[in-house]
Amino acid sequence: MYDLVIRNGKLVTEKGVIDADLAVLGGKIANIVPRSQAPGTDAVSIGDSAEKIDAEGKYVLPGGVDVHTHLDMPLRDGLKSADDFVTGTIAAAIGGTTTVVDYACQEPQGSLKEALNVWKGKAKGACVDYGMHMTIARVDDETLSEMADMVSQGVTSFKIYLVYDMRLNDEEIYTVLERSAHLGTLVTVHCENYGVIRYRTKKLLAEGKADPKYHAISRPDRCEGEAVNRVLQIAAMADMAPVYIVHNTCREGVKYIEEARSMGQPVFAETCPQYLLLDDSKYELPGFEGAKYVMSPPLRSKADQEYLWQAIKNGTIKVIATDHCPFTFEEKKIGLHNFSAIPNGGTGIEERIALMYSEGRKQGLSYTDLSKLTATNPAKLFGMYPRKGTIRIGSDADLVLYDADRKTTITHDILHENVDYTCYEGVTVDGYPAMTILRGKVIAKDRAFVGEMGKGQFIRRDLP
Ligand code: URP
Ligand code: ZN
Ligand code: ZN
Repeated sequence: MYDLVIRNGKLVTEKGVIDADLAVLGGKIANIVPRSQAPGTDAVSIGDSAEKIDAEGKYVLPGGVDVHTHLDMPLRDGLKSADDFVTGTIAAAIGGTTTVVDYACQEPQGSLKEALNVWKGKAKGACVDYGMHMTIARVDDETLSEMADMVSQGVTSFKIYLVYDMRLNDEEIYTVLERSAHLGTLVTVHCENYGVIRYRTKKLLAEGKADPKYHAISRPDRCEGEAVNRVLQIAAMADMAPVYIVHNTCREGVKYIEEARSMGQPVFAETCPQYLLLDDSKYELPGFEGAKYVMSPPLRSKADQEYLWQAIKNGTIKVIATDHCPFTFEEKKIGLHNFSAIPNGGTGIEERIALMYSEGRKQGLSYTDLSKLTATNPAKLFGMYPRKGTIRIGSDADLVLYDADRKTTITHDILHENVDYTCYEGVTVDGYPAMTILRGKVIAKDRAFVGEMGKGQFIRRDLP
């Protein structure tokens, strides 16, 4: 007797889509029985269960794994990202994501342990499972020693920035990467050139160019390319430390990743729906509308979008995460007369799965390809596989029933993110998640959260 049986679905497995029934026991996938029946043999029944779900006409996807979120993230002057772990993970659940890995941030004078405790406190109300990356804001002996403690706490990846207040210089980057190579961890990197952006920003503002569109002009693609190249060179010198370049937006950066990968360097690349689906024409919107798309790096050209899709198809980009970091339109108005004061970040935690399965299919990617980009690969790279990110016996029963025929126009009012707009207003997707299951329990159904609050579990991640 199982806890749950899902019958008649099309299971999206790593080996392809199969017509099969799936049984859950104790929160794990306990059995998978293909429905195809060899001629002359009896059908094999999966058996009985307490709860039954009929997935006729639906795809059964592995629950989405979003490895780039900023929930409850303090920015400055008391400003924080608009979604906390409750609202953000409810939105994630409804949108088909069952695990998030959020960026905990070391305070400039604080320790990594303190930051982890703070973030675990924030995450108490989480409604999907969650892990943490640890952002390093200060490089000294204490931090370097604490990196090992993080590993024993199940935090096996770090984040470094080349911009913003917590940016590291080249010596610090080298030091962290060398330490990470020694520990076997993975360092994720935000790549942009700080000095060039600072110079261009000052110049633009002095010329009276303060509108949101100048955000993009202040940080062109070569800023990203230079920083990606620099990090790859430093990583190669620092004992070939593995690096993961977050939110790639353009050819100028990805070309260096392709070159490094072709020479066997361990470098992994992520992009996000906004860079695949939206372009820099958003900055030409009237009034202050462009501020909704002020994120770093900024939206790029249509040619860059095309390059990113190709990089997905040729295997250079392995992960599509969101960089979900919303601020309300009101909050963005802090930068009404100065684009550089606009809080950076956009939406996506709820929209990602629908957007990527819809647009990805149009790009010729298979269901299995898309499940790898949105679940399996991030779970593997960040030490959660095979518990997370796949449909196989023994894995957590984190599943999404995806209705490929549920054509939906995304608007702010159908979403649950705690923010007053979506970057994808008016985008029509071919299908939509109809149900989300976390460790065998239905937590979202027909765009409503139906789970128990605060049931998300902290995932202690293995070394990748
Ligand atoms: O603009 C963005 N992306 N804000 C979130 C923080 C970051 O850079 O990832
Ligand atoms: Zn970033
Ligand atoms: Zn980010």
